[in-house]
Amino acid sequence: MNESASIDTIDPHAELRRALSSRPRTIPPRWLYDDRGSELFDEITRLPEYYPTEAEREILSANSAMIAELTGATTVVELGSGTSDKTRTLLDAFVAHGEIQRFAPLDVSEATLLYAAEVLNQRYPDLVVEPVVGDFTRHLAKLSSIGDPGSRLIAFLGGTIGNFYLEERKAFLGALSDVLAAGDWVMIGIDLVKPIERLIAAYDDSAGVTGAFIRNALVAINREMGGDIDVGNFEYVAMWDSREERIDMRLRASEPERATLAALDLEVDLEAGEELRVEISTKFREERLREELTDGGFVDHEFFTDEAGDFALVLARRA
Ligand code: SAH
Ligand code: TRP
Repeated sequence: MNESASIDTIDPHAELRRALSSRPRTIPPRWLYDDRGSELFDEITRLPEYYPTEAEREILSANSAMIAELTGATTVVELGSGTSDKTRTLLDAFVAHGEIQRFAPLDVSEATLLYAAEVLNQRYPDLVVEPVVGDFTRHLAKLSSIGDPGSRLIAFLGGTIGNFYLEERKAFLGALSDVLAAGDWVMIGIDLVKPIERLIAAYDDSAGVTGAFIRNALVAINREMGGDIDVGNFEYVAMWDSREERIDMRLRASEPERATLAALDLEVDLEAGEELRVEISTKFREERLREELTDGGFVDHEFFTDEAGDFALVLARRA
């Protein structure tokens, strides 16, 4: 995988410098998931307005036994696993089916990953739980040494694929396809296009947890980069981009902001009203993902949705 070898040389300092200096200015989403950010994300999944978690859990409950039977996978890998909470529904079915030997969760958030692995070890004493600290945009090559090629299922849940920009998503599916073998399976959770009111409510909740989650990226940057960004000067803004069909999450400076990041030897000057783009959450239509999966070399797509039709899981096989 030549592509990932070059991506692997990304240095977080250079990446952040480039992101904060580019126009529009951005913050790389990995800054969201420090220990506090992972806690806040966990809180988001329990908000009444945030429907994706329960919708995906419903789909997993209804279909996991069939997925275990159909794929017969001996290894399940989960990318961006977080607490692997919903994944237990899937693993219960795989363990009951009797062929699974190994579960490998991969996440950038080490503390969350190790905690999750401990919980899983207790729940599944006969399963080899093999946590991998890694970045799924850079370290997919690690998958080549996990499990038996052709007998693996790679789960990517939570709608995390929607957090990629289009080009990143294509690169991700291509890199995933490159590292997998014929007969391996992928299972991807996608949030579906729906009326704007529910989308905005889910990403700009009344308790302000999502705003705190996004703002926490600035706290993490201050801590790691010796920064003095005035976090309170930034207002959280979530808007619906109807052309790209995605939620766009930004931080807007209320007053002019002049901050220094000592570790980068960088000064950032923002005008009042200027925005930092932090995260997007793309909402899908079935057709769009089918085409991208086909382009990536995945076949036999099967879509499963919840009763309300809010969310989908797509299962596909590496040709
Ligand atoms: N799968 C869980 C968590 C989704 S939140 C669920 O469905 O609820 C996204 C998860 O991906 C977080 O745990 C975060 O730490 C992780 N993550 C974000 N960017 C990542 C990256 N580039 N590489 C690996 N993990 C990443
Ligand atoms: N991937 C999920 C989503 O897009 C979770 C998530 C990622 C999220 N970044 C977020 C949720 C920012 C709220 C805010 O819904």
